[in-house]
Amino acid sequence: MQTNRFLPPVIALWLAAGNGPAAGTIRSGEPWFDTSGQRIHAHGGGLLRHAGVFYWHGEDRTRGGAAAVNCYASTNLVDWRFAGVALSRESLPRADGQRTFVERPKVIHNARTGKFVMWMHLEQPGYHYARAGVALADQPAGPFTFLHALRPITNDFNFPADAPNRQKELGGTFRDMNLFLDDDGRAYVFYASENNWTMYVVRLNEAFTGPETPTLEGRTWARILVRDMREAPAPFKHQGRYHLITSGCTGWQPNPARWHVADAPLGPWRTGGDPCVGPEAGLTFRAQSTFVFPLPGKPGEFLFLGDRWNPQDLPDSRYVWLPLRFDTNGAPRLEWVAEWRP
Ligand code: DGJ
Repeated sequence: MQTNRFLPPVIALWLAAGNGPAAGTIRSGEPWFDTSGQRIHAHGGGLLRHAGVFYWHGEDRTRGGAAAVNCYASTNLVDWRFAGVALSRESLPRADGQRTFVERPKVIHNARTGKFVMWMHLEQPGYHYARAGVALADQPAGPFTFLHALRPITNDFNFPADAPNRQKELGGTFRDMNLFLDDDGRAYVFYASENNWTMYVVRLNEAFTGPETPTLEGRTWARILVRDMREAPAPFKHQGRYHLITSGCTGWQPNPARWHVADAPLGPWRTGGDPCVGPEAGLTFRAQSTFVFPLPGKPGEFLFLGDRWNPQDLPDSRYVWLPLRFDTNGAPRLEWVAEWRP
């Protein structure tokens, strides 16, 4: 990530290719540049490995830009080449005459259909729209075609009538989200619902384009972390157990992370402690979880992806990527590392 716009392109490319001692390292909290020297815009993002290449999809927060979601590609998780606009702003639906925008896009591959499936939090100013967006592509970098917007679970849990988020009529809100593809080929969407009070885990249909139907609470979907007000879910699996890192709900401000663990994706989930240790651990190192990625060929080693939001200047938000390992009690641990290579 050392590559920057001030280097002549030929040297930047040479460095990005991993040549010489100055090849890139991960330096959390600093501005990150792609291999052509442009600032990386892939906030609230996720990683996907396909055919030996890593793809990083995330929010483009450039003002007035054409992309809703960008895609970057890498073979070493450090040097990232801009792979294109994965989903354009223009392709997003409008609702009530107003534009929508994307947060926390994630992509998984469906081996049955051959499609790459993107889920996202689709929103409007005010955060009452609170829908899932689903888009499809034939290639990991896209371009993705927007398919539909939905609230996956339409149950009415005695939601107040006339609330601007319309939960009574449409079902639980869909905000911070993540996808999880299990080893058995089944996929799940985790999302902050019920106006962020309660997290939902919903198994997806065979095409991964919506919930498995009929939706049956406890069988195809579950309410977890009930009334806990958690968001930014980052699920992952280690030695047959399911783990989840979440944040509290404090807007763009950092707060303590929490770890949750279960024997099955639908739970029951048990809440453990704060996985972060060391200075600034109580503020998740001034970041918020977005993804946990298993490092290929390194069992038990994961890459934690977080966002250090800058509410004064969101396009200048930074990335905090740290190694995540398990301690001898089977709990994940996250420690600050100023500079490293996965
Ligand atoms: C916290 C969420 O995690 C972010 O994705 C974003 O929705 C902000 N809240 C908005 O305040």
